[in-house]
Amino acid sequence: MQALGQRASQRAPLQAAAGRRRVVSCRAVVAEPPSSSSKPGPIILDGQVLHSLSPERLELVSSLGSFVEQEVQPLLKDPMKCWQPSDFLPPSEDPYFMDAVLELRKRSGGLPDEYLVTFVGDMITEEALPTYMAMLNTLDGVRDETGASPTPWGRWTREWTAEENRHGDVMNKYMYLTGRCNMKSIELTIQNLIGSGMDPKTENNPYLGFVYTSFQERATKVSHGNTARHALEFGDELLAKMCGSIASDEGRHEIAYQRIVEKLYELDPDGSVLAFADMMRKQIVMPAHLMDDGVHGERNVGRNLFADFSSVAERVGVYTAFDYADIMEFLIKKWRVGERSHQSGEAAAAQEYLMKMPDRVRRLAERASVRKSKLKPVQVQFSWIFDRPLSV
Ligand SMILES: [Fe+2]
Ligand SMILES: [Fe+2]
Repeated sequence: MQALGQRASQRAPLQAAAGRRRVVSCRAVVAEPPSSSSKPGPIILDGQVLHSLSPERLELVSSLGSFVEQEVQPLLKDPMKCWQPSDFLPPSEDPYFMDAVLELRKRSGGLPDEYLVTFVGDMITEEALPTYMAMLNTLDGVRDETGASPTPWGRWTREWTAEENRHGDVMNKYMYLTGRCNMKSIELTIQNLIGSGMDPKTENNPYLGFVYTSFQERATKVSHGNTARHALEFGDELLAKMCGSIASDEGRHEIAYQRIVEKLYELDPDGSVLAFADMMRKQIVMPAHLMDDGVHGERNVGRNLFADFSSVAERVGVYTAFDYADIMEFLIKKWRVGERSHQSGEAAAAQEYLMKMPDRVRRLAERASVRKSKLKPVQVQFSWIFDRPLSV
């Protein structure tokens, strides 16, 4: 899952400006403008440009309100028609609640530890939802300015978050009832993750932000779809239905974000191809890349929890580097990247770069998997499953 982690390659354009920066805080700097310009240079924080969208493109994004209202918003479901976590859980007011819990425990008894670790990692990712809402509200031109803004963009962000909130909720309650996981350690990991946030390198730029969410929603659809399939194989039909329902929500969400980028492509092909290529160069960081249970490194000679969780997910086939390449290829086709004609040479170069990427990523993934198959597996303890070891 994290075979394609972050790289420093995107920092190249910033390094050119580095010699001419003035410091505005301990970690933020403002690059000096070119001598011919009277405008201030971009603000740079932790190696990335902030507010990188041009005023013209910002205006374009701000003008898309009625498009969002008519074409994007309807992809969300009426809350009265949505499934809720209780639909998948034994009703606690029921006199036969305890029997239903025993039944649930019997059903989930066949889930192997690899499955539990993968499911819990996905669940922790869902539970860090405050971070993703915050991320959307960093984006210029679309943020919810008041917290209850009636604009189509503001409503979209809140209502999308509200749909997403059911995912971590149902997964968490289900895992609690199975009795198979160390809930306190999981809860600590969630608290740490929300406290750490995430760094998707989207520069307050909605073009970059919506490429990121288009990718991520599809990635979550793939992984929840796979955990659904595996739950069925291990004999837990209800869990399979639950994961399938989550995957189906992610499916509507991916269509929504991809539709936004499609619109940007229609109105501004050059800006869109540059944004897409930029995010692919930076590589899509997984939203939970900063997860920490406070003990993993100590118990496993300095190993990283997210990397180990990702290796387990990769090994059981829930989310792999090949899925990453497939998603990239899917988006290239979806946005008809190869068919567009571009005005600037820079945009044409970005287009060419994108067209080659999926094969390149697959070759890298193949090489990495051959390398990995030659390594002796290491036993790693996961606090989430009471320190039971897994081969990584
Ligand atoms: Fe989700
Ligand atoms: Fe999602």
